[in-house]
Amino acid sequence: SIEKKVADLLSRMTLEEKIGQMNQYNGFWDVTGPQPLDGDAAKKYEHLRKGYVGSMLNVRGVKEVRAVQKIAVEETRLGIPLIIGFDVIHGYKTLSPIPLAEAASWDLEAIKRSAQVAAKESAAAGINWTFAPMVDISRDARWGRVMEGAGEDPYLGSEIAMARVHGFQGDDLSSPETIAACAKHWAGYGFSESGRDYNTVDVGTSTLNNIIFPPFRAAVKAGVRTFMNSFNELNGVPATGNAYLQRDILKDAWQFDGFVVSDWGSINEMIAHGYAKDKKEAAELSVIAGSDMDMESYAYVDELANLVREGKVKESLIDDAVKRILRVKFELGLFEDPYKYCDEIREKEVTGSKEIQDAVLDMAKKSIVLLKNENEILPLKTNGLNIALIGALAADKTSPLGSWRIAAEDSTAVSVLEGMQKYPDNKLTYSKGADLTIGKTEFAIELNINTEDKSGFPEAIETAKKADIVVMVLGEHGFQSGEARSRTDLGLPGVQQELLEAIYKVNKNIVLVLNNGRPLTITWADKHIPAIVEAWQLGTQSGNAIAQVLYGNYNPSGKLPMSFPRNVGQVPIYYNHKNTGRPVLPAPNEVFWSHYTDESNDPLYPFGHGLSYTTFAYTNLMVDKVSNDIFNVSVDIKNTGKVVGKEVMQLYIQDVFSSITRPVKELKGFQMVELKPNQQQTIKFNLSENDLGFFNNEGEFVLEPGEFKVYVGGSSKTVLESNFIIEKQSIK
Ligand code: IFM
Repeated sequence: SIEKKVADLLSRMTLEEKIGQMNQYNGFWDVTGPQPLDGDAAKKYEHLRKGYVGSMLNVRGVKEVRAVQKIAVEETRLGIPLIIGFDVIHGYKTLSPIPLAEAASWDLEAIKRSAQVAAKESAAAGINWTFAPMVDISRDARWGRVMEGAGEDPYLGSEIAMARVHGFQGDDLSSPETIAACAKHWAGYGFSESGRDYNTVDVGTSTLNNIIFPPFRAAVKAGVRTFMNSFNELNGVPATGNAYLQRDILKDAWQFDGFVVSDWGSINEMIAHGYAKDKKEAAELSVIAGSDMDMESYAYVDELANLVREGKVKESLIDDAVKRILRVKFELGLFEDPYKYCDEIREKEVTGSKEIQDAVLDMAKKSIVLLKNENEILPLKTNGLNIALIGALAADKTSPLGSWRIAAEDSTAVSVLEGMQKYPDNKLTYSKGADLTIGKTEFAIELNINTEDKSGFPEAIETAKKADIVVMVLGEHGFQSGEARSRTDLGLPGVQQELLEAIYKVNKNIVLVLNNGRPLTITWADKHIPAIVEAWQLGTQSGNAIAQVLYGNYNPSGKLPMSFPRNVGQVPIYYNHKNTGRPVLPAPNEVFWSHYTDESNDPLYPFGHGLSYTTFAYTNLMVDKVSNDIFNVSVDIKNTGKVVGKEVMQLYIQDVFSSITRPVKELKGFQMVELKPNQQQTIKFNLSENDLGFFNNEGEFVLEPGEFKVYVGGSSKTVLESNFIIEKQSIK
């Protein structure tokens, strides 16, 4: 068995070799070409040859991976293969939509399929471990990394976490087409104070247990093999040195038997946090807290052996970490064939294959959310319309790839311009209007990237004047969201808002296509622009997906996974908030209730919102009690429009009174139905203890007696409401 093999190998390892397994290096140098054998690179090579490296990240492509694997397998004493990690966040070279966009599909099969093809393409390039999925719940669109998660809701987030883990890992981790997944960032990273990346996190027990933890627990349930801890501190203790998170919850309570990798340099960062006095203490605190692998801090490789010899760290802790790492390597089948991911012919055949392109196109179409469509301006007709296409992002072939696309090359996305050119019955004229000046690479990007240049306005205005319809593609460049891309202003960057208003003055028939990695405050656009399409950053097939939706070849069915604020002052804004003691306006002109004096409490677009080219009517909500804690809910839905359409039906509950106050609404079920015009169907949901209970502040899962409300509809602003009573308490 694997456990026997792990124990046998461990018994033959020296302390240094064990610690080597816990050491991960970045490998951005070219191992197959001229090698800069100075400084860090020289040290890394030397360590690799001695067996002091267990994993590398950012080595990619069969040639490169084979080169480092060969050193590990053929030159070290025990020949233990490396596990090769990479941020396969939404694809490898062929990109699917950014994860937040995929979440907008609410289509678990498509999301799983997207992870599956990402695994296949990256595994063919030598990679066997992805640092995904990011399952951090976030309520703050200022935080740039919301693009990488599944939004604000723990139920949707948990379902998506499981789909992604299943997609990456498949049923058989030893298959050369699957890779190990990593649930990150454990924990609380999405609650970074003021939305500023890497910032302090201070949250209470109930939020931790009921909002932050569920998607991680779901990932463990789905069999995720690794976790990554996070940069933030949580209630005063950096996550990397946090024994409560890594030992008490993850490894003890949840019985997770995979391993935890630190985030990049996060062991060392505990010094800056003010938690460890130096690198040595940082290593000691991290390993005791349960961080098994050190990503790029050099702390374990430099300090752990001495810490063990001095008796400050027990060797049994090292053994436990190494066992976990070796276990995953055995499961991947790396010992049987360390080069199983290194097949040049397969790499060539699989990279960018039709199978992968089809899957990412399907995912891209399903990720689009129709936010507004007045007077049925969409879908566009194909009857010789004169269409003006305006905006720098309309012709951009790099931005749609979004953030986290390390292996994908610039300019490999299909632009909206290219996608729309495939509909030649209409006349299409492109004008850029305004630029979004941007650094060349992801890491070279500067903060001040928005040009004030309006020299393109006159040409765009003239083009719009002559058009029947104007399609404007505006929003954030792909690198304006993502890690370290926090923003205090959630409007359209640069002069794009001015451009939109200038065009509106000459032609009101505007379809606004948004490209963005986070909710934006598009309050003006919502008031004036008749049609708004949320198209995020959709990856390699972006332009094709957008064009197919604009022309009605695909009827959109996406629903927002995050609330869109009216203005940034409302952030954090989320549908599953608490009621407060003063939730409603008591009387006209009353002041003392929970509100703003200058803005409504409501979001611009609520969680779960999304339209279709058809319409749906919900009727006949019924709740049937099966037992104390099992209820069947049924509801009728009818397609009341003119075309076939899909609808994501959403079920929410409210636990009206409880020992810990509960949110005003909580998503507890969703189903996608496809209906022809006039077709009606009865849809059933099931509610059980797991949906109705919650974690109390003692960490127990309780179901308390009392009244519950149930709501069903096409968004979190639901249309139907009923209620039921739980008679008896139960505790797990
Ligand atoms: O996986 C990432 C993580 O999410 C942020 N820091 C770097 C890691 C490896 O690239």
